[in-house]
Amino acid sequence: MLKETLYNATEAGAQILLHYFNNKDLAISHKDGVNNLVTEADHASEKAIIETIKSTFPDHFILSEEVGAIETGSEYKWIIDPIDGTINYAHGIPLCCVSIGIEHNGTIIMGAVYNPFLKEFYFAEKGQGAFLNDQKLSVSEEGSVLKSCLVTGFPYTYINQPNGPLESFSRFIREGIPVRRLGSAAIDLCWVAAGRFDGFYEHKLNAWDSAAGYLMVEEAGGKVTDFKGQPYSPYQPHILATNGKIHDEMLLWVNDQR
Ligand code: IPD
Ligand code: CA
Ligand code: CA
Repeated sequence: MLKETLYNATEAGAQILLHYFNNKDLAISHKDGVNNLVTEADHASEKAIIETIKSTFPDHFILSEEVGAIETGSEYKWIIDPIDGTINYAHGIPLCCVSIGIEHNGTIIMGAVYNPFLKEFYFAEKGQGAFLNDQKLSVSEEGSVLKSCLVTGFPYTYINQPNGPLESFSRFIREGIPVRRLGSAAIDLCWVAAGRFDGFYEHKLNAWDSAAGYLMVEEAGGKVTDFKGQPYSPYQPHILATNGKIHDEMLLWVNDQR
């Protein structure tokens, strides 16, 4: 029932993304920062997702980007990003998705990420593997950072600190390492799970950006930690997700210790 509801909720959100995509009249407003957008599609997707979940599990805890926490005291928490990649979405760039993770007593047990434009539905269940449209996923085999293809993202507000996003980025770029920037952390993580990227790092993510994608990477055989190498938590901002083989080396690069 949990899996079925997760699929239905993800699909309900994705239908909204398809409906409003490239709509010139899409209502757009700003959150903190002029480029941190929220559109009417974010709100509509979130509403459709939450209604779908609540119709089966009315007492489950909801944590969703636009409405925040709807606490119930339940052991189950649904962590929702109604559109991950809103800037892309608002510009008609089809690299965006719905991302939903389910936490049970503090452990992420299931996740779904759906990009309806590429028709890519990612699903992972703890201990059961990660899948792209029912095909089992495995991370890449690359063992060297210098030969890796990486992806990262940048926050909406500049982080002025040593080893901030620009400093890390420049270290990789100076060595000629390809570092992509897709604009959707959930897709970045899924593409690590799919073996398209060898590693992903970002300095400031929220729980809804990473909860589902984290499980995708782990279940595809990869590794996800913070920048100190501590186990992943959705409630801290730093994330390093790799194929596992380059993880220790990536920690050195990100922390400027190589
Ligand atoms: C953003 C995307 C982006 C990442 C930002 C996130 P949003 O989420 O995941 O890739 O770099 O940090 O905030 O705002 O599109 O849901
Ligand atoms: Ca997001
Ligand atoms: Ca979002």
